[in-house]
Amino acid sequence: TWTTGSVVEEQIALIREQVGDKRAICGLSGGVDSAVAAALVNKAIGDRLTCVYVDHGLMRKGETEQVEKDFVAATGVQLKVVDASERFLDALKGVTDPEEKRKIIGREFIRVFEQAQAEIVAEAGEHGESVDFLVQGTLYPDVVESGGGTGTANIKSHHNVGGLPEDLQFQLVEPLRKLFKDEVRMVGQELGLPEEIVQRQPFPGPGLGIRIVGEVTKERLDLLRDADAIAREELTAAGLDREIWQCPVVLLADVRSVGVQGDGRTYGHPIVLRPVSSEDAMTADWSRLPYDVLAKISTRITNEVRDVNRVVVDVTSKPPGTIEWE
Ligand code: XMP
Repeated sequence: TWTTGSVVEEQIALIREQVGDKRAICGLSGGVDSAVAAALVNKAIGDRLTCVYVDHGLMRKGETEQVEKDFVAATGVQLKVVDASERFLDALKGVTDPEEKRKIIGREFIRVFEQAQAEIVAEAGEHGESVDFLVQGTLYPDVVESGGGTGTANIKSHHNVGGLPEDLQFQLVEPLRKLFKDEVRMVGQELGLPEEIVQRQPFPGPGLGIRIVGEVTKERLDLLRDADAIAREELTAAGLDREIWQCPVVLLADVRSVGVQGDGRTYGHPIVLRPVSSEDAMTADWSRLPYDVLAKISTRITNEVRDVNRVVVDVTSKPPGTIEWE
């Protein structure tokens, strides 16, 4: 029978068997899945695990600082932070196709992990064993939607499954591969991770890169970050964080519409709010948010975010829509 205790014990044994006396690195994204995977592997192999947080410049406001502080405080893992924002922006230049974006981001993640691997080995000096293993917080739904690692996405290539490069040098350690999100949260709780991490809403590894419909640029990212921060702030203030599964905020960068502000004409971009409720992200329903909360978010975004003159709400279930727009 399924108990979180038995899953933890079983996975720890499997991780020890797989990794042996070698070293591993774990990509941390700030989300629940990678945090729980890291905590599991940390428990299994201790300080032979180094966590690597890649700041790809596609994070939301305040997220990088949160990982640096909260996660390390909670788990005591060794953390290496890599600022790779220029590298990701360069690689994404001119790209508008969603699958292409996902594959590029997945590939760049691995390239950064390889660099980190080389540095970790060098820093360990003569006592340094090689780092052969890469820990990922891949969940069961990620595997299914990416086509089970067959190379062809059923729906979309999750950055950590279908987005991996073919010449991958690492062996993957994926202790959550058979679990759904609610189970991962229970495992996290069992491992003693704090509520703020365990109950965090999902956020995709490719980050804001797949929430800009159109080319990803620094200016667009800054704009979307501001709009997203306002939406999150108001949803939290309204006490809705536990009620909604997540609320992607999407910038339609290639769409413009006419507006009026003060006594002047504007020609700006729409922001889409995509609040959903879900059990496991495989299906979802759009959340019926209170009108006054929507009104507040809309007023604030159009007042405070330059170049945005319209806020719309996505009222599509999954299926037929997916949760993310790309
Ligand atoms: P979709 O858009 O497929 O999203 O309905 C389902 C859930 O998965 C998240 N998501 C991702 N998570 N890497 C991730 O770690 C990815 O590439 C990725 N793509 C989507 C999405 O936020 C939702 O919770």
